[in-house]
Amino acid sequence: MLQKVRKAVFPVGGLGTRFLPATKAMPKEMLPVVDKPLIQYAVEEARDAGIEEFIFVTGRGKVPIEDHFDRSFELENTLKERGKLDALEALTQQLPGTGTVAYIRQREPLGLGHAVWCAKRYIGNEPFAVILADDLILSEKPCLSQMISAREDLGGGNILATMEVPNEHTSRYGIVKPGFDDGSRVEIKDLVEKPDPKNAPSNLAVIGRYILEPTVFDLLENQARGAGNEIQLTDALSSLLKTSPFYGLRFDGTRFDCGDKIGFLKANIAFALNRSDMNREVADFIRDFAADL
Ligand code: UTP
Repeated sequence: MLQKVRKAVFPVGGLGTRFLPATKAMPKEMLPVVDKPLIQYAVEEARDAGIEEFIFVTGRGKVPIEDHFDRSFELENTLKERGKLDALEALTQQLPGTGTVAYIRQREPLGLGHAVWCAKRYIGNEPFAVILADDLILSEKPCLSQMISAREDLGGGNILATMEVPNEHTSRYGIVKPGFDDGSRVEIKDLVEKPDPKNAPSNLAVIGRYILEPTVFDLLENQARGAGNEIQLTDALSSLLKTSPFYGLRFDGTRFDCGDKIGFLKANIAFALNRSDMNREVADFIRDFAADL
């Protein structure tokens, strides 16, 4: 029987240099889109997909993330006294259960591959998900749920969320060399990290959602530094491809790179326009404000 994906890793140890000065004293993952921090969207997506254990790989300056997923009795009492029950519910209902969350310090931000490797002992010998909170996806069915359904249909294997990107942007992503392709699921023959458009094997890019077999840890253990002098997850996945089935899923939804200022602004607009309690006002404002552009 197919082993269930029960655990998710949230690498949040990065420095967020593209978003300075906002991220000088605040973790990038705590930046809010409308009224929720990015990391909360990621945890809710995982929970909706049936994830039971949440493993954060953190670093210096990331303690606000731990506080966010902890009880805040003083605030809860104040809200109760003031009769602000909706706010109280919003605060408590988002908390993962006691004993289901672990925090591991990465110590040095040596790269995404290294961050994932740090979770090795907590994952053990089972398939697991990796979610990058700064890749925020607006979709009807959460992206990780789509990936878990695809994995069940395919009978297992490593599944990566993929999307088509403009040819001139291939150097920003890990790019897939595709095999069999049914328009939704694509067999991954190879992965190339940030290729020049002229060398890119396709324009199908890997984004921040992965379901991986635990054998990846053996490869990460010995993974040399790659692009940007960091231990790259894509490099380990390229090696894993040789021994383990790999598929890309063209997920339904729109992905926003919230580690980038423009991507983050777009996400705020899109998520606000998707909310019935504010979409009219926001749309009117944008129309008026942008009228002269
Ligand atoms: P990014 O490539 O966005 O790097 O990492 P970054 O450091 O967060 O941001 P910039 O590029 O300097 O602006 C992708 C994901 O991997 C995590 C990040 O937290 C982010 O979720 N990461 C990256 C780690 O956990 N550890 C690392 O050493 C590097």
